[in-house]
Amino acid sequence: MSTPRSAGRSHAPVAATARGSFTSGFGVLAATLGSAVGLGNIWKFPSLTGANGGAGFLLVYLLATLLIGLPLMVAEISIGRQARANPITALRQLAPAGQPWWLLGVAGMLAAFLILSFYSEVVAWVFAYVAKALGGQLLSSDPAVTQAAFEALIGDPVSALLWQWGVLGFIGAILLLGVAKGIEALTKKLMPLLFLLLLLLCAYSLTLPGAAQALAFLFLPEWHKISAPVVLTAMGLAFFKLSIGMGTMLTYGSYFGAQQNIPATAARVMAADLCVSLLAGMAIFPAVFSFGFAPSAGPSLVFITIPAVFAQMPAGQVLMAAFFVLTAIAATGAMLSLMEVPVATLHERWGLSRARATLLTLLALVVPGAGCALSQSTLAHFKPGGRSLFDWADFLSSNLLLPAGGIGIALFVGWAWGAQALRAALRGEGPPSHARLAGPIAWLLRWVTPPLILLVMLGGLGVFG
Ligand code: PFF
Repeated sequence: MSTPRSAGRSHAPVAATARGSFTSGFGVLAATLGSAVGLGNIWKFPSLTGANGGAGFLLVYLLATLLIGLPLMVAEISIGRQARANPITALRQLAPAGQPWWLLGVAGMLAAFLILSFYSEVVAWVFAYVAKALGGQLLSSDPAVTQAAFEALIGDPVSALLWQWGVLGFIGAILLLGVAKGIEALTKKLMPLLFLLLLLLCAYSLTLPGAAQALAFLFLPEWHKISAPVVLTAMGLAFFKLSIGMGTMLTYGSYFGAQQNIPATAARVMAADLCVSLLAGMAIFPAVFSFGFAPSAGPSLVFITIPAVFAQMPAGQVLMAAFFVLTAIAATGAMLSLMEVPVATLHERWGLSRARATLLTLLALVVPGAGCALSQSTLAHFKPGGRSLFDWADFLSSNLLLPAGGIGIALFVGWAWGAQALRAALRGEGPPSHARLAGPIAWLLRWVTPPLILLVMLGGLGVFG
């Protein structure tokens, strides 16, 4: 339990701690929202909704977010703020003596690396698309042409790797600036910009002739499409979206101010994140329907369908550049939070400087990152169990590791830490009202969350036949 700071941690005023922390309420919100909002909203949410039947999927996703996601998010942030430490140290510190809950922190680190490995590659495609869009390439109303452009990009091992390293280096450089000057300062500027761009795109898209069809598709449920695997996918998306189940929110919680209202912040983040997803859906689907494309085009929706759709619009060039810049902005905040987990852990637990911790994290990502980056080229035929390494990383993290991490956090808070401790953590230095929800949340985490997640996981994986 050798941590640089432990005694008195939870009650020291934020500004007085030697450790990095967010410096304002808006900064906390922007950084946390920056973690939640990402490729999940723009690349995963629309394509999963499209592929799984629209509104019915949306409803299951909403339920999973409210019933499972929100209490877990509150729990993770509370643990982080109470311990003021990275996930491994925090769980070690707060667990009853001799109980190895810190292993959850280790599992979280693994999940972070797994997600970073494939996520960084998709972000690489987004950054490459920003460059191409600004340079006037990519525009063709023929999906066969935009498909060929996308395949040329992902099928070239050298450019796949170079773009990935470029992205990883860029995120590493921001992290070197620290929690307040790097993460907080940047996300405070980027988040409002993201909303503005998205609103503009959405307003434009809703004037297109396919808008009514798109809204019906997004908001009228088709119940027959809901199956056990679809429910697991929706729950996995809820975990992925809210960045929970792997210690990211725990790590960010450790930078929260002592007076910050945790449940209110978590609820705001959840609501704003949902707004971004819905806005993204309402920006993408009207255009897709208006120009006669299929809404269920899967992940290629963003990289193949969208450019073809933009090519048919007036000022399509500018709009498309705006769209990919927006996606890049969203992805940056999420990548920062993903990488902050290993960086904070290496920095605090093993006493490395932030610079060395960042460098080591980047180095550790080279091999698994390359495995995912090359999945569409050099390793295209390497598909153990029918999935590429990229698809395995995506599937395992969302459908297995994050939900399993969620069960672990729920069990920890519900059974080992307890409602009293949660109450004290939620209160921090704020008024008693901040801890009002401690009882119901602890109860949910004790009795409802673990069996519910387990049931959805087993059902989705086909265990019940
Ligand atoms: N929430 C991010 C998104 O939706 O793109 C992805 C993510 C970030 C997942 C951080 C997990 C995480 F810890």
